[in-house]
Amino acid sequence: MEGMLRPDSFKGKTIIITGGGTGLGRSMGKYLLQLGANLVITSRKKEVIDKTAVELINETGGKVLAVVCDIRKYEEVENVIKRAEEEFGEIHGVVNNAAGNFISPTERLSHRAFDIVVDIVLKGTYYVTLAAGKNWITKKQSGTFLNIVTAYAWTGSGYVVPSACGKAGVLALTRSLAVEWAKYNIRSNAIAPGPFPTEGAWSRLLPGDLVKKFDPSKRIPLNRVGEHQELANLAAYLLSDYSAYINGEVVTIDGGEWLRNGGEFSHLEDIPNDMWDMLEKTRGK
Ligand code: HXC
Ligand code: NAP
Repeated sequence: MEGMLRPDSFKGKTIIITGGGTGLGRSMGKYLLQLGANLVITSRKKEVIDKTAVELINETGGKVLAVVCDIRKYEEVENVIKRAEEEFGEIHGVVNNAAGNFISPTERLSHRAFDIVVDIVLKGTYYVTLAAGKNWITKKQSGTFLNIVTAYAWTGSGYVVPSACGKAGVLALTRSLAVEWAKYNIRSNAIAPGPFPTEGAWSRLLPGDLVKKFDPSKRIPLNRVGEHQELANLAAYLLSDYSAYINGEVVTIDGGEWLRNGGEFSHLEDIPNDMWDMLEKTRGK
């Protein structure tokens, strides 16, 4: 649960985190500040990011700029880049963390409900990526993208179909630009987190009594949910120069969850030891 990188690893570096006012975005931002970064946080709710900025400055002594931005609006995205450069000079990394999600049988969704999630997750991410990438390329600056996806970006998942479609697109964007923009010294990587408790995710994915009925830790081989510092350590590493040769990778941090759910015989962990003893005795008979 401790920070992993050297305390000054991000000294003089500026990182933008979309959706940085809450949840995992806030936790990643706090750790980057502790490592010496200048931080830019954005989201739609001014009161939320302003409050977080004050808290993070008090908690870390670092510099935080909060800029309101709906990532579905390209001009607002361009404004974030402009404001970040005015405040801190060069931008070194962008974390595409903002997302929207909820659970629902797909046949119950309106087309607008589908749009709303895909527009935030995919369109918002490519708007931010396009604006930041063009800026770096024009100014001949290097940069690093870190995109937050999920393991169902490649498996798909029922009941969160708009999010699965959006995250699959973000993963394709990550891998495509890792190759295309490498010549500009722009790296693109992704993290696929399993369950990490946040108010935003839990209220939408485990509403009401579902949280009692479907304890997420029970699905995970390591038998627990993730700790925010574990994710922050990985994010900081992938944004830092220590990972300079990692490009186009998606790192899963889920305690083994997705592989377990794909494993044909994973359910055999329900067999108690005395039954294994009995099966051993009958082996080969
Ligand atoms: C079905 C829903 C719905 C729900 C909204 N809609 N919520 N449909 N089930 N639970 C429909 C509405 O009826 C409407 O369609 C359309 O979606 C737009 O709804 P609004 O409420 O007007 O949208 P808005 O206020 O912009 O809110 C966007 C949101 C909201 C995505 C619905 O949840 C939000 O702001 N989320 C941001 C944060 C977030 O989602 N964080 C969790 C990320 S967790 P109609 O047809 O009625 O107009 C995550 C983890 C993944 O991604 C992996 C976990 C392991
Ligand atoms: P969260 O706190 O709800 O974070 C989502 C953030 O996105 C919010 O700060 C929200 O702020 C912002 N946002 C939504 N729509 C936006 C828009 N149009 N423009 C700008 N910002 C917008 O949830 P979280 O759990 O920390 O999720 C963070 C990321 O981790 C997401 O990409 C999510 O898919 C991913 N993830 C989470 C988990 C988990 O278990 N928590 C697991 C896998 C992946 P506003 O509402 O103020 O705009």
